[in-house]
Amino acid sequence: MSKLPIQTLPNSPEERGLSKVHFGIAKIVAKERYREFCRLTLHLPQIAQWTQPGQFVNIYFDGLDSNLRFERSSLPMLSILPRPFSVAKILSLRKGEIKSEAPQAFSVLFNIRGVGTNWLAQLTADVPIKVAGPLGKGFWLPEGTKTAVLVAGGIGVAAFPFLAETLKAQDIDTILLLGAQTKEKLPFDPVRAEFPVINKNGKPLSYWSVDEFESAGVRSAIALDKPEEGFFAGTVVQLFETWLSNQKEREGIVVYGCGPKPMLKALSEITLANKLHCQLSLEERMGCGIGICFGCPIPIKGNSYKLCCLDGPVFDAIEVDWEQYISRNS
Ligand SMILES: Cc1cc2nc3c(=O)[nH]c(=O)nc-3n(C[C@H](O)[C@H](O)[C@H](O)COP(=O)(O)OP(=O)(O)OC[C@H]3O[C@@H](n4cnc5c(N)ncnc54)[C@H](O)[C@@H]3O)c2cc1C
Ligand code: FES
Repeated sequence: MSKLPIQTLPNSPEERGLSKVHFGIAKIVAKERYREFCRLTLHLPQIAQWTQPGQFVNIYFDGLDSNLRFERSSLPMLSILPRPFSVAKILSLRKGEIKSEAPQAFSVLFNIRGVGTNWLAQLTADVPIKVAGPLGKGFWLPEGTKTAVLVAGGIGVAAFPFLAETLKAQDIDTILLLGAQTKEKLPFDPVRAEFPVINKNGKPLSYWSVDEFESAGVRSAIALDKPEEGFFAGTVVQLFETWLSNQKEREGIVVYGCGPKPMLKALSEITLANKLHCQLSLEERMGCGIGICFGCPIPIKGNSYKLCCLDGPVFDAIEVDWEQYISRNS
């Protein structure tokens, strides 16, 4: 598989139109397992060619060519509701000597947690699965952006490889700050940073980085709640604060966040206090994923709601009503 020519990001939230949704059968062309994480590469050009960074797909569980068996009690949840996943990357595929330049496939990276993700993680290559996408509205790039800081909590990083590549292709200085509770909870094997994110004194904030981002020209730093030598000790939001306190020039910094709700709330408060523009990819339990069931409301300031699947999942951090959003159990 090889990399692709990348499209550009829209400059404002209003420019993000909803894409035509393709509902089709994708084939699993690659599968990688790493600890409790799984990455599936799915061949479906109609989705790969139209997806923008930050958009997602729904994966359905009917029509699976699989002999796996499940407890009766898990079947309704399994078969009725699709599972939403960010498009982590889009890819071209190499077949023999013929290389297609147009995107042919995309990957999803997920945490294996419940019945649906366990099923997905057990599937083998060439199995057909039903997918709808691209769904929702993704990230944008405000005019005048010089530096993009991608702040990810755990598997929230799945929303970022495609965004990082697109930003780099638009000549935006891009860094990734990734956090997890422990080294074992990281969705990637950390590597020794070749181009670390450094502080004012020229010292790396973390000696470890994420290979997939570093090889795309994106410097990264890793924070662990449980201190380990060579990693930033603390939360990823503390890592972000430390990075920010080292910046002389703050004009043109844009922050993109994805991760657990409390982390996003803290990030939103810091960016607001520092007058930085911040976009967040939010998660809400979803039913249809296409704006029909009204099952995914995100509380918006001024006592209103927007739909996560239709108006998001990417929102401007300043519009979210955090008190209401955080008090939900989902
Ligand atoms: C827009 C969007 C993008 C997402 N992208 C990713 C991603 O890239 N990687 C990743 O690991 N996870 C992602 N998630 C979360 C992912 O959808 C859930 O982890 C997954 O649906 C769990 O399914 P399950 O059957 O294994 O879990 P179960 O807990 O058995 O699921 C039961 C039901 O709850 C729903 N559900 C459970 N957890 C979540 C959640 N956090 N968000 C929304 N619905 C949930 C499931 O869809 C299912 O309908 C995303 C969620 C949203 C809304
Ligand atoms: S999931 Fe049905 S409206 Fe959003």
